[in-house]
Amino acid sequence: MTLSGIEERFTLTTTDDEVFINNFSEDVKTGLKSESKYLPFVYFYDHIGSQLFEKICELPEYYLTRTEADILEANADDIASQFPQETVLVELGSGSSTKTRILIEAFLERQNLAHYTPIDVSHQMLEESSYSLLEAYPDLEINAIAARYNEGIDHLNIQTDQQNLITWLGSSIGNFERSEVTTLLRHIRETMHSDDRFLVGIDLQKDKTIIENAYNDTQGITAEFNLNLLTHVNRELGGNFDLENFGHKAIYNEKIGRIEMYLISNIDQKAFISELDLEVSFTANETIHTENSFKYSLDDIDTLAKESGLCVKQQWFDTERLFSLNLFAPAVDLQ
Ligand code: AVJ
Repeated sequence: MTLSGIEERFTLTTTDDEVFINNFSEDVKTGLKSESKYLPFVYFYDHIGSQLFEKICELPEYYLTRTEADILEANADDIASQFPQETVLVELGSGSSTKTRILIEAFLERQNLAHYTPIDVSHQMLEESSYSLLEAYPDLEINAIAARYNEGIDHLNIQTDQQNLITWLGSSIGNFERSEVTTLLRHIRETMHSDDRFLVGIDLQKDKTIIENAYNDTQGITAEFNLNLLTHVNRELGGNFDLENFGHKAIYNEKIGRIEMYLISNIDQKAFISELDLEVSFTANETIHTENSFKYSLDDIDTLAKESGLCVKQQWFDTERLFSLNLFAPAVDLQ
């Protein structure tokens, strides 16, 4: 395979506002000055954070990735069989596109050509993962979009003569409040034609211990991932957080049905962030809330679909029913 062959099968569109993706300094300032300190989860994913997340996905306790891959392996052909030639596979938050390979391969078994449109905020990630996919699959064509979800969806420009399978894998949905999810799903619903489908991986509510172990792994990788947020602040904003003096805590809030992740100050201490000219004081055991990861019941999934103008067409589980893969279609009465 020559490089020009790959380039002919690849386009990368950047939406205008990509430069405004994040306002790191403002967000850090607001979060750390707040009465209950917090930092937005999006800032986990600097280069090191993205690598740590890939490591998390391979942890024995972190059942999410493994179970979703199993479900995809077992059902990819069933999924692909429901779509005609020239179907476009769209992926929100494609990241490394590892699990998507299963779907791409299933489509290529049935189609001469596969079209893939990954949407991700990271330009670099899109280029890297696209090139490795294009190298692996000579009959694959990629039109990547560097954007946030909403801008990416607006950019899709879904063609009427091509059917689309939009995917949102890995339970990324879990990071968002229910109301935010409904807003996003409605937006997606608006761009969908009646034959288009939306495939979403959603982690399920289950025994508290299984969930908490997934976010408190024995190797301490999740702790490293969480603490890396402070390294990110130190590097980008000239902070002097001493990582030795912070710990990691993840607890399952059964009432709300979500994992809550915190950084916890081991001692009374102060940190200074020079770029923000901000001193932050911590008392011993004070926390910074860094992430929520919502877990769904089957009823929650139904409700979510209804509120978004979608319906659950098909639903698959792993053998232990830890994780779900949901195929949504536009609700008929809304067409
Ligand atoms: C990327 C949101 C699916 O919530 O399980 C993993 C992120 N945080 N371990 C999740 C995460 C800590 C992950 N998602």
